[in-house]
Amino acid sequence: MKSIASAPAKVILFGEHFIVYGGKAILCAINKRITVESKLSDSNTIHIDSDIGIITVPKNQLIEDIDIRFRPIIFLAQKILRQFNSDSGLTISIRSEIPAGVGLGSSSACCVAAASSISGLFTSYSKEDILRLALEAEKTIFENASGADTTSCTFGGILEYTKQGIQRLDMYPKFQIVIANSRIIHTTSQVVERVKKFKQKNIEEFSKLCHNEAILIDQAVDALKNNNIEVLGEKMIENQSHLQRIGVSNQTLDSMINLTKNVSHGAKITGAGDGGCIIALVDDSNLQKTLQALSEYECFPTKIDMSGVEQKTIHDNS
Ligand code: MEV
Repeated sequence: MKSIASAPAKVILFGEHFIVYGGKAILCAINKRITVESKLSDSNTIHIDSDIGIITVPKNQLIEDIDIRFRPIIFLAQKILRQFNSDSGLTISIRSEIPAGVGLGSSSACCVAAASSISGLFTSYSKEDILRLALEAEKTIFENASGADTTSCTFGGILEYTKQGIQRLDMYPKFQIVIANSRIIHTTSQVVERVKKFKQKNIEEFSKLCHNEAILIDQAVDALKNNNIEVLGEKMIENQSHLQRIGVSNQTLDSMINLTKNVSHGAKITGAGDGGCIIALVDDSNLQKTLQALSEYECFPTKIDMSGVEQKTIHDNS
């Protein structure tokens, strides 16, 4: 028997970084997925075969001693095997369409898909249970994760997120999002740490920025509900100025955003910044022009993923 689960990538439309300090964020799951396939084995090991490498470790290996790239997945494997008193080992295979380290939630999506795939060998957990497990796994490498990315990858759709809870925005947007990849890899936890230092040095300014970001997000939610693309674009431009101020944009990202200035409705970085991707808001009238403006970069339009994590179990004789 094997259990296969997949989870979508995400973009943050508004609120990255400020969410770590209790703000609100708006996230959107997109149609690029990571797929995790798990199978019990007779060995005493956990084996992972993935696009970023291969690892085999004893089942009871101390989590702190495991390569950071594989740590969350090994953590999940150990925890779930223990939870179900299993004597088996595990073989896990991971395949991804999501570029890693560029703000599209690849590691969160991987934690979500792995939590669902491995637990699917034993039981059928709710999405809430999968999210709890995935977040615990993510925290083995990024203690201050807000949980926004994992939540989006679990539930899909467009979400209004705070650490206290989520609200799904059940709307059918008239806009599309173009993603352009700077190909500058970042480590989210390091960028979050830098913002923490900015906050400590600029207490008053940071608190004012949090206040302005909260107002901006309320206006963005209204614009989303009314499908008002012009206002939504203006709010993205405003949000980008907050992100520039806290130091997570850079020259490459600024110049990419500049390329979209006269063609898209608005653009900003998405996710941690300091590299990674930008998003540009478009509709049918300016999609092609925006793709053309960004053509020197890897860029593509996206569709919203409505389903979030999905799992199926395949029995050997089926
Ligand atoms: C990363 O995609 C989003 C951040 O806000 C970090 C987090 O929410 O954990 C930068």
